[in-house]
Amino acid sequence: MNVLFYSAQPYDIAYFNKANAAFNYNLRYLEYPLNADNTALIKPGESVICAFVNDHLDAGILRQLKEKGIQLIALRAAGFNNVDLKVAAELNLPVVRVPAYSPHAVAEHAVALLLGLNRKIYKAYNRIRDNNFTLNGLEGFDLYGKTVGVVGTGNIGAIFCRIMLGFGCKVLAYDMFNNKSLEDAGVEYVSMETILKDADIISLHCPLTPETKHLVNAYTISQMKRGVFLLNTSRGGLIDTKAVVEALKNGHIGALAIDVYEQEENLFFHDLSDVIIQDDVWSRLITFPNVVITSHQGFFTREALTQIAETTLNNIQQFEKGLPLTNQVKI
Ligand code: NAI
Repeated sequence: MNVLFYSAQPYDIAYFNKANAAFNYNLRYLEYPLNADNTALIKPGESVICAFVNDHLDAGILRQLKEKGIQLIALRAAGFNNVDLKVAAELNLPVVRVPAYSPHAVAEHAVALLLGLNRKIYKAYNRIRDNNFTLNGLEGFDLYGKTVGVVGTGNIGAIFCRIMLGFGCKVLAYDMFNNKSLEDAGVEYVSMETILKDADIISLHCPLTPETKHLVNAYTISQMKRGVFLLNTSRGGLIDTKAVVEALKNGHIGALAIDVYEQEENLFFHDLSDVIIQDDVWSRLITFPNVVITSHQGFFTREALTQIAETTLNNIQQFEKGLPLTNQVKI
């Protein structure tokens, strides 16, 4: 199989080349993100596109891919909100993904963001390097005894719940499906309204869908506790960033830690250190002392990268052999 990668970073190349020893496919890597301007880079004989979270797979691009002979879209990610699945199905273009790759990686990153921001590790690091050993402004709070609200208790959310239980937190969860083993461990399933009202910390772990877009908005923020700590390692579109900026300004949101951002495709995974950023919402967001942002690195562990490469190549192999596509995404 000839597989063309878009948005390939050095770590993708390293992990995929290693995993490919067991498959021996022809892998060609492009660093550019997939968009309407660069489908022309597909060479005859390439039948699989391997795409990542910020590659566009809208109706127009899917049609272009089909015309160029692409037969399979292999996402090297769990989320698939960047794919028009309806059009993919109409074109008979199967879409496969990596449904779970070390969910621990993302759950642990959410905890890292929570601890790092709460205990001001990012400030302390800089102060120590400047021989400033004062503590003013570094105060945090005990996680023990706090109420954590978790939205979405799938693979990642469930692990996050268990870690928070380990800290001695009260864990409230909202999902359409109750996870019995989480309930047995002490998680209490409640309504979204109760989470908003009672949680000191809210962490988002549901996918981005038309229903969940801007789940955090001016109204839902107004229902949250004043000073709430908001965490998002899921997808940027879950949050109306402008509303969050207002709430940070007036103090309703006490702290924000995010690994994803609504307009991240223009920013994340690129070195823009010499570029004038045009996104004013972003520029305001990064000025807050109580905001910590990482650029979609929740998945970025050795274990997850290995699993992503192996599962993606296995998905391609199932397609090549005409086997059932275990990880196909369907509407
Ligand atoms: P999953 O599919 O195992 O779990 C998602 C859960 O959300 C399910 O239990 C589902 O019932 C629930 N859900 C769906 N709609 C909901 C709603 N409206 N309200 C409440 N719950 C709802 O997915 P997984 O693996 O736990 O991943 C969660 C999200 O994390 C992904 O959708 C993806 O966007 C994000 N992610 C982020 C990564 C990063 O590097 N930051 C890496 C991997 C995933």
